[in-house]
Amino acid sequence: MTDFSSLEAELGAAVAAAADLQALDAVRVAALGKTGSISNLLKSLGGMSPDERKTAGPAINGLRDRVSALINARKAELEAAALDEKLQAERVDLTLPAPARRKGSVHPTMQVFDELIAIFAEMGFAVAEGPDIEDDFHNFTALNFPPKHPAREMHDTFFFEPHGADGERMLLRTHTSPVQVRTMVSQEPPIRIVAPGRTYRKDSDQTHTPMFHQIEGLVIDRDIHMGHLKWTLETVVARFFETSSVKARFRPHHFPFTEPSAEMDIQCDRSGGELKIGQGSDWLEILGCGMVHPNVLKACGIDPDVYQGFAFGFGVDRLAMLKYGVPDLRDMFASDVRWLAHYGFSAFAAPNPASGLS
Ligand code: DAH
Repeated sequence: MTDFSSLEAELGAAVAAAADLQALDAVRVAALGKTGSISNLLKSLGGMSPDERKTAGPAINGLRDRVSALINARKAELEAAALDEKLQAERVDLTLPAPARRKGSVHPTMQVFDELIAIFAEMGFAVAEGPDIEDDFHNFTALNFPPKHPAREMHDTFFFEPHGADGERMLLRTHTSPVQVRTMVSQEPPIRIVAPGRTYRKDSDQTHTPMFHQIEGLVIDRDIHMGHLKWTLETVVARFFETSSVKARFRPHHFPFTEPSAEMDIQCDRSGGELKIGQGSDWLEILGCGMVHPNVLKACGIDPDVYQGFAFGFGVDRLAMLKYGVPDLRDMFASDVRWLAHYGFSAFAAPNPASGLS
């Protein structure tokens, strides 16, 4: 009878020497594959006498089982080693400091929102918000725009497709004034709010972009008059430009939602190619304002014989350009990281009137 112990020793050594899974598989095929050494021995059982088979059968089967077990054990060992190696290669040290990246910054428009909100908050104004997608009632009708009046066209409105049974068209709000309506409808006077937000008009050139930002203001109480409006706006503007006072003039104007209406200009000096606020002989228009029209109060369920109020709306991007010397409005929304790195503000320097605004 063949001595299987030398074959077993030989296969055992080959299994132990297999350095990777591929080499190990080659050993397995050479021993247990179709024409492998052990498979051939198993095939030879058929040609043996029953007596020979009685001793050779268990011996060959035992050999096959032991070699299979060796191969499986070595396979598990090699797989564990391969996994270890992979984990080692993919190891991340979470205690290392993060790599230096370009820092994010606060956009000048958002900085100006924060500055104005800080000033208004100190004067007792709350912040109110409304949706960018508005309906005709809040954007126009409740604000005393007559139906079919050209003033609606004046705003170069972006309309959505008509929807619903009445064919109403939703729109992108053309100003932040609809937030006045939403506030008066949902709150009892006294009201003191500012509403910062995005606004939209079909307009695009050096000084207009289809999306821009406004901040709206609304004060409703008993015995409110133009004197309150004038003091509030002059105080805010002086604080915003960080000067002790600004000289302002109120020019008569027309808005459907205020009566009387005005535009506020501030004194400035444009000589020498640089804009200086609070001196000189030029004027710069910065906002629209007026006393809330009685029709607007009525549309919002407020009795105009009891309550009066004033409202105003600033163009915020323009204020940011003025204060921080940005020459072209379109650059404000070009998302150029170099521009943002230059004009942006630190997110950690939250503006407040005590430590300084900018
Ligand atoms: N909504 C006006 C506009 O977009 C700005 C404005 C003017 C707002 C007068 C007001 C206001 O609240 O009283 O042109």
